[in-house]
Amino acid sequence: MLIFDFFLLLFFALIVLFITVSIIYNTVKLGISPMPSSNKAYLAMMQLIDEAGLETKAGSIIDLGSGWGNFVIRIAKRHPQRTVVGYELSYLPWLISSLLKKLLGLKNLTLHRQDFYQADLSSASILVCYLFPQAMEKISDKLHLKQAGVNFLISNNFALPAWQPYKTIQIDDFYKSPVYLYKIYKKQR
Ligand SMILES: C[S@@+](CC[C@H](N)C(=O)[O-])C[C@H]1O[C@@H](n2cnc3c(N)ncnc32)[C@H](O)[C@@H]1O
Repeated sequence: MLIFDFFLLLFFALIVLFITVSIIYNTVKLGISPMPSSNKAYLAMMQLIDEAGLETKAGSIIDLGSGWGNFVIRIAKRHPQRTVVGYELSYLPWLISSLLKKLLGLKNLTLHRQDFYQADLSSASILVCYLFPQAMEKISDKLHLKQAGVNFLISNNFALPAWQPYKTIQIDDFYKSPVYLYKIYKKQR
């Protein structure tokens, strides 16, 4: 019995170790952890999606780095008529969000375990992200190419360099964090 307890404990310790190492590895590699947006930021992002949605009735909503799925799942439930897509490279968050998607039967949600920089975003009308400054620079470069269809980008906390926000909501938290809405149009270089 004691040996069984030992192996059970070892098994759980190895699972916890695997989860920890996997999350730390991907955080270092990608430059950001899978930390979800705060609830107040979600509410602001959803308000901006509703506003952008008035102009973009078709086209998908794509989360660049969908983490554990907190945002894409809420959006897919709120807009069952729209296609919602998430790109996530970190294995565990992608796995958990894919399981939740199956459990909740969200047919309008697709989750790719793929680098969003390499993805074809031309089916998107609204892009959403919660990333970090260097990632915003890369996205800004990608958007200069104006992928057909992309009309709006909503970013939690981090501005898109060289673009003027169309609207900014300051959320009521300690830092008065901004959530930006950008209108995307073809820029002259
Ligand atoms: C801070 S989390 C945001 C999660 C979710 N969007 C939210 O707002 O709650 C950022 C996520 O982006 C993912 N990520 C970063 N770079 C990526 C890339 N190039 N391709 C796919 N996912 C990426 C990270 O693994 C992380 O889970």
